[in-house]
Amino acid sequence: PDRYAVIGHPIAHSQSPLIHGLFAQATGQAMTYEAIDGGADEGGFARALAAFRAAGGQGMNVTLPFKLQALAAATQASDDARLAGAANALRFDGDRIEARNFDGVGLVRDIEANLGLPLKGRRVLLLGAGGATRGAVLPIARAGAARIVIANRTAAKAEELAHELAPHLGGVPLAGGGFDALAGEAPFDVVINATSASLGGDAPAVPPAAFAPGALAYDMVYGKGLTPFLKLAQAAGAARVADGVGMLVEQAAEAFAWWRGVRPDTREALTRLTVPLV
Ligand code: ATR
Repeated sequence: PDRYAVIGHPIAHSQSPLIHGLFAQATGQAMTYEAIDGGADEGGFARALAAFRAAGGQGMNVTLPFKLQALAAATQASDDARLAGAANALRFDGDRIEARNFDGVGLVRDIEANLGLPLKGRRVLLLGAGGATRGAVLPIARAGAARIVIANRTAAKAEELAHELAPHLGGVPLAGGGFDALAGEAPFDVVINATSASLGGDAPAVPPAAFAPGALAYDMVYGKGLTPFLKLAQAAGAARVADGVGMLVEQAAEAFAWWRGVRPDTREALTRLTVPLV
């Protein structure tokens, strides 16, 4: 069977082997999918990548902290990966290493297909100005958002990121600033927490007025239940809340389709991994 893997550090709790195992079973693909720990020392990622390719590996998912190194190792990269400055999927073809970043399209598919909210014409607020936001902006723009705003604790980082990405969005307006700058903005239909605040049990200081009535609040983390951000969003009147489990499953489906040429149905994986938000 063909070999695939996810590489990260740490990697023990990765759900990717389960998800790809379900996809392979459902589509009848003869493949294996393993988890590889790239280790903490310098050069660990490069060595593990070389060893996996030498052993006949055909493709890899890449998670923290190796997404930047994965892009750097690639011989060709998609626009998604280049603008994100990071790759989360690799495909090996002889001497070629192709890089993609499916995190953003996974997010968009989850919001549109699973949560049933088309982004066309919507006002979208992204909280945070790190790698997670960087990867989400282009796919959200491609989905036809009316306006995208990046708000960050450190305002300058959001301003710089917006300035860098704006010319690549086909005319979709993009602005960046601090949370206080949101006072001058109309409310948003979708508010996405792309900060790492939830991991520390914290919520970004987004003003309640940023949520439109009926808004969707989306936290990119998963398995943490109702995070402080999602609670804040509910208190601010957001009608719907979601965590990032669907983004995880949908980016996996994108990678699977890219590798195998078959698009898996994601419903079983979603059902298996979804934890009620309480
Ligand atoms: P990643 O690549 O995972 O996005 P990162 O580049 O370290 O990680 O970015 C983390 C983001 O979460 C940043 O936007 C950070 O805000 P600052 O730029 O001001 O540091 C944001 N963040 C982390 N903890 C936060 C908190 N408690 N409240 C608000 N924002 C937070």
